[in-house]
Amino acid sequence: MYWKKLSPKKINDKLFGALANNINYRSNNILGVPGTYLDAEEFYDDAPFLKDAPFLSTLIANPNHIGCHTMGGESESIFGGTQAVERELIALIGEQMFRADENSIDGYVAPGGTEANIQAMWIYRNLYRKEYKATRDEILMIYSEDSHYSMPKGANILDIEQAIVPVDKKDRTWDLDALNTILDEAKANGKKYFIVICNCATTMYGSVDDIDSITTILDEKELNYKLHIDGAFGGYIYPFTNKESRYQFQNDKISSITIDGHKMLQSPYGTGIFLIRKGLMQYAKTEEANYVQGKDYTICGSRSGANAISVWMIMMIHGSEGWTYKMDTLIHRTDDICERLDALNIPYFRNPYINIVTIDANFISPELATKHMLVADKYEGERSWYKIVVMPHVKRGLIDRFFVDLEAEIERTK
Ligand SMILES: Cc1ncc(COP(=O)(O)O)c(C=O)c1O
Repeated sequence: MYWKKLSPKKINDKLFGALANNINYRSNNILGVPGTYLDAEEFYDDAPFLKDAPFLSTLIANPNHIGCHTMGGESESIFGGTQAVERELIALIGEQMFRADENSIDGYVAPGGTEANIQAMWIYRNLYRKEYKATRDEILMIYSEDSHYSMPKGANILDIEQAIVPVDKKDRTWDLDALNTILDEAKANGKKYFIVICNCATTMYGSVDDIDSITTILDEKELNYKLHIDGAFGGYIYPFTNKESRYQFQNDKISSITIDGHKMLQSPYGTGIFLIRKGLMQYAKTEEANYVQGKDYTICGSRSGANAISVWMIMMIHGSEGWTYKMDTLIHRTDDICERLDALNIPYFRNPYINIVTIDANFISPELATKHMLVADKYEGERSWYKIVVMPHVKRGLIDRFFVDLEAEIERTK
């Protein structure tokens, strides 16, 4: 994995060049498009600082990246300059972070991880319908009980049946006996086509599903399945902290991956990223999107080109080495939390490559959790876990203050 760090000047030059390659609502003849620049009373485009601020300038110019621009066909010609940056971004993430072969990945910058996950389910459901004439009763979606709520949400929207695999309550791994039973029963009940989702990593525990043990079972049973990876949380950290990651496109079992910029990458909300092997995006084509040049392949439709720019900028200002260093720093801070919990004999779950520590709720008072804004596994009924997510703002001083309070609480209850 390697991409070179760029200087701020190089980044600005490239992005202002891209903007100049878009057709501009201010200076070109654009009569038929129901879009325009941001309100000029509030967001005036001659503010002096804008000449050094390509992201803000792109926000104000307001390019609409509707559609998918990696597929080689036609795209909205007005915004060709910034679409090219998005194309470069998808190739960069697919090929460098997730080791795809050159030109083998399609994708787009989605509103978030939720849409990217549902986009995958939508594509695979349509593929089974179109290529195999699958009926509703023949398709089953499978994921673990620790998965994000976008899975049941997507199954509900798309009317896909689902089976939820229980996990071991200590190490959060899939219960493979239960998976076997679910698959055998599903087959007996006429299920023929499977949409399987693995996590890298789960929202509450930061657990990373053991993808090989799961695909081995699916393969042994000779199932027709598509495997999507929910890397909304772990996508920007795991490939950098675990050099042996199986969550990559050289693993031919994987068809698509979700990652979120607006978590660890610190890009603005609206930067979920959807990556999929070429040849599959077409199953999400809306033929009726007649007014869109190149048609639409996404759930959301209109989306801001500025978001794609922001993700590209952040990746370029750090370079792969800078980003690896930054993610290692989060891991070291997380290690430190775990060592301190060990010293206090407090049980927790943690994947060593992920920056989440999930602490047994029996050892944390609700007052302490509220004071330090730990997040609970649930807010209705009894809580079992509280998590600390070591985001970039969680610095050593903040961690120290939590432990001062935790140790004082332990002293008081002795
Ligand atoms: C594992 C996982 N998947 C999906 C999502 C959904 O992401 P978004 O809120 O960007 O839609 C989240 C958000 O926390 C997540 O942690």
